[in-house]
Amino acid sequence: MTKFPDRSLFYKEIKEQPKALANTLAQYLAPNYQLKMTKPPLDDLTLKKIRTAYITACGTSYHAAMTARYIIEELARIPTVVEPASECGRHHLLVDDATLAVAISQSGRSKDTLAALKLAGSRGAATLALVNESSSPLTMAASGSLMTLAGKVQTLSSTKAFTSQTMVLSLMGLRLAQSRGLMRENWRDEVDNIGRLPELVRHTLSFEDRVTAVAERLSGYDHAFILASGPLLPMAFEGALKLKEVAKIHAEGYITGEFGHGPLALVGPGTPIILISFADDDGCRSLDLAAEFRARGAPLFLISEDGPNRDRTLADQAEFFLPLPQVTPRLRPVVAVIHLQLLAYHLGRLKGLDVDNTGGLIHSTMAAATANSAAVDSGLPAFYSTFDRFID
Ligand code: F6R
Repeated sequence: MTKFPDRSLFYKEIKEQPKALANTLAQYLAPNYQLKMTKPPLDDLTLKKIRTAYITACGTSYHAAMTARYIIEELARIPTVVEPASECGRHHLLVDDATLAVAISQSGRSKDTLAALKLAGSRGAATLALVNESSSPLTMAASGSLMTLAGKVQTLSSTKAFTSQTMVLSLMGLRLAQSRGLMRENWRDEVDNIGRLPELVRHTLSFEDRVTAVAERLSGYDHAFILASGPLLPMAFEGALKLKEVAKIHAEGYITGEFGHGPLALVGPGTPIILISFADDDGCRSLDLAAEFRARGAPLFLISEDGPNRDRTLADQAEFFLPLPQVTPRLRPVVAVIHLQLLAYHLGRLKGLDVDNTGGLIHSTMAAATANSAAVDSGLPAFYSTFDRFID
């Protein structure tokens, strides 16, 4: 096994994910398979009224938010709208007292996320903050909160808070299902599947040598596409964000099924493609596209399930195969993103970049957040024209 420098905080936090997930799980799972998630607004009385969910966040936390739609709609059958917090208030926000509004943030201090939560709350929604910082402005503004216990976050580029957020959203989906009398038969299996995540993430991290080989192959390129569909789509966006931010490569996340409707025109030997695909997901379409990529000379890398369900035909088309453990489709994002985080790290390292100094984040100053809250309080839509750096 190759040894890599572990001085980088980004790398350290990638490696801390099994622990972050286990600590977060421990606070929500009771030994009798019950969930410790009943404080307002996730109490039975409030949840009885809930008919829709509105989930919002910025950046990487927004990609976690995107996974919530697949989880909540499938498990709890509650129509769910997800949008970047910066867009909230730029349209007529249709939330009311039958809406559960969830704002997700590692820091709890992103100005747009705070403003979106306040706006939803001002229209009557039950507001919930999903945060890693217990005494943050977002926690104070929400009627209740769920914590990720990812530990101290020292880098601006979110990894361990992100996977923890995504896992907590799965638990929250179960809680919503429970409140509606659903999932009774599969309850134990669902809880067991979520409980395996720390170990599955540890297992995925053990393929770092393979990710390094992919990074070496990719290091000469300036562009990349990451394709996925269904619950994995947010991971294509998240992987592309990390490649841009950490490895300074222009990368674009794209819906597999949309790729043939225009973007394919860009594909050639200079555009590597990372395809996240599963046989039971969009396998046939991926296979057609893979043949097309090959014909155009584009390097193809596949992230997919290993074991008996492995799609060998598709794997044969790819130069490199990054394996994922078997896990229920809704939980695949938590393991799939690990390869992409490591890829961003190793690409950045190979390019000689300071991977901890990403310089791509625009957070809020509290002054701006306060000004925006005032706008919301006075009935105006949330809007910011200035972008200030985050001040703790
Ligand atoms: C990118 C990254 C950012 C943050 C975003 C929101 O790697 O970490 O996109 O996710 O700035 O920050 P929080 O979650 O603190 O609200």
